[in-house]
Amino acid sequence: MKTIMPRKRDLLLYGSAVAAALAAPAVLTGRAPAEEKGVGEKLKKIVTGKKEEVTPPEDLMREHGVLDRVLLLYEAGIRKFSSNEDFDPALITQSAEIIRDFINNYHEKSEEEYVFPRFREAGKLVNLVDSLLRQHEAGRSVTQTIIRLAPSSRANADDRKQLIASIQSFITMYRPHAAREDTDLFPKLKDVVSSNEYDAMAEAFEKKEHALFGADGFEKMAARVAQLEQQMGIHDLNQFTPR
Ligand SMILES: [Fe+2]
Ligand SMILES: [Fe+2]
Repeated sequence: MKTIMPRKRDLLLYGSAVAAALAAPAVLTGRAPAEEKGVGEKLKKIVTGKKEEVTPPEDLMREHGVLDRVLLLYEAGIRKFSSNEDFDPALITQSAEIIRDFINNYHEKSEEEYVFPRFREAGKLVNLVDSLLRQHEAGRSVTQTIIRLAPSSRANADDRKQLIASIQSFITMYRPHAAREDTDLFPKLKDVVSSNEYDAMAEAFEKKEHALFGADGFEKMAARVAQLEQQMGIHDLNQFTPR
């Protein structure tokens, strides 16, 4: 029987659950019994050694969160170009490199190697899978174009125009792409694989993430995106709240 190593973020979750359970008894916190029960359940899982797994759909959807945040960076870049605000195009290059490394070469490879074939074998959502695969190929090509054009976009107006069009086409394709996967494909994954395969898939995603990006690969990538958001001036979430 294979042993699945816990992720660091799982350990952190357990650590905080233990801390919460030990440091905040119900009599002191005034929490509702249901909340206390939830903490108790978590503690029980830690004590019994049974940890909560990050399921394959949850893993893939978190990665879509990284993708969506890069799309926000792209949109911010387009706004700056449109208003003739000077900014370092390296921010676009670095954003596109995250897409290339984390989305095109990791997340989408996982979908292509583990998720799409299962639906094909089951004869389910085959047309959707075909469309998604074609979009992966188109996405890789557009990302290469973005990386090629970004460095010269400050000085060369033609390159800038082509870069903006490429970024826009990428955003236009990936918003519906990721939304369809989140709502139509991933929730059906459990219907086309056995529970053993489902668990093995979670483990395979984890191993691959560690092999490509080291421990805490997801957290590191999210931190890189946050740093780019700071530099692009879109990190403060409150700026998006209507006044
Ligand atoms: Fe995809
Ligand atoms: Fe995806």
